[in-house]
Amino acid sequence: MSRILLLVAVSIVMSSQKEVVIKNEKCRTCNFLVSTFDEGLKKTARHHFAGGDTAWEEKNLGKYKTSETRLIEVLEGVCKKSSLPNIDKFTGISELEFKCASQLEKHEETIEEYYYNQQQNNMSIWLCVEQLKLCCPGGHFGKNCEECPGLKEGADACFGKGACHGDGSRDGSGKCKCEAGYTGNLCRHCDNEYFEESKTEKGVVCKQCHEGCLGICSSEGSKGCSKCKNGWAMIEGEGCQDVNECSNHSACTKDHEVCVNTIGSYQCDCEEGYKKDDEGKCQLDVEAHPDRPFMPIAQQLKIISFSSLIIIITFVVWHGSPVLYVLTGIAIVALILVDLYVNPDTIPDEAKRFLGLY
Ligand SMILES: *[C@@H]1O[C@H](CO)[C@@H](O)[C@H](O)[C@H]1NC(C)=O
Ligand SMILES: *[C@@H]1O[C@H](CO)[C@@H](O)[C@H](O)[C@H]1NC(C)=O
Repeated sequence: MSRILLLVAVSIVMSSQKEVVIKNEKCRTCNFLVSTFDEGLKKTARHHFAGGDTAWEEKNLGKYKTSETRLIEVLEGVCKKSSLPNIDKFTGISELEFKCASQLEKHEETIEEYYYNQQQNNMSIWLCVEQLKLCCPGGHFGKNCEECPGLKEGADACFGKGACHGDGSRDGSGKCKCEAGYTGNLCRHCDNEYFEESKTEKGVVCKQCHEGCLGICSSEGSKGCSKCKNGWAMIEGEGCQDVNECSNHSACTKDHEVCVNTIGSYQCDCEEGYKKDDEGKCQLDVEAHPDRPFMPIAQQLKIISFSSLIIIITFVVWHGSPVLYVLTGIAIVALILVDLYVNPDTIPDEAKRFLGLY
């Protein structure tokens, strides 16, 4: 028994939701029709009087303004997505063009009445709200176009800081969904971490507290904070300031870690050439290539020695002097000895720097 009741209840809820969606779609479809109709009116006016401005056209369209020729031309583009430069407003309506065309067919007489006698009115209000009753005027919602909260108080819907559910359509609950920073049934209060910058009968203006503030604040900037978030410290005359955790030597203590201060916190990175393993320990990174010389130092030394030697030998052969032959022999022996016995690690640092080995 109770299961049947539950099923009935569920199906009632589902069908009423479906109805709400369809009602809203009908309103939006009507507005799509109006947008394409409006676009047609503009286009035909431009064609008829190329170059004139809109006010001038209005005055000078004369008989053409309500002629049948023009109506036929306008109707050619009605309910076609391609007539609008921007149809994003109407996304989410399935079979939009088809639904629009059946509205057009169903209400052809009313639309002609608008064209011949009501062009001075706003078409969306005259047609979709007043005649077809598919939409409500802005700031109104629901079956009977009730006022959104805020209108009774003489302000905008939701005091201008939120969206009234169902606004402008024939459905919705009229509840306000406040923008970020605003709260309350009427969006007339500032949310946590926001402060009231100004307040009038038309609503409040709220601004975000400084990032270091915890909870409420009284004004902009770090000085407005009442309390500070973790990682921030209250400094007299300055308000909440970021704590440099890295000045505390116990911040990062594991081997090969370096402390990096961040706003409101800090992190322990690894030294260059190290990376964190699965346990979060910094281990030598075998894949990293810190600024090592292109070749090992020993190899560089050898290349320098032997290229010098080749230059000297060339010079000696050129001159053919016996003294130079002797000197060259000594140099070759010296270089071979150097190559055999000098370990680059034993070369003094200044010498390496001089040779450009760093
Ligand atoms: C007609 O009224 C609607 C709703 O108030 C408004 O969005 C639209 O801009 C108006 N159109 C013209 C042509 O004034
Ligand atoms: C340094 O850090 C340790 C551990 O987090 C903490 O107990 C201590 O209070 C800190 N000292 C200072 C001066 O911030």
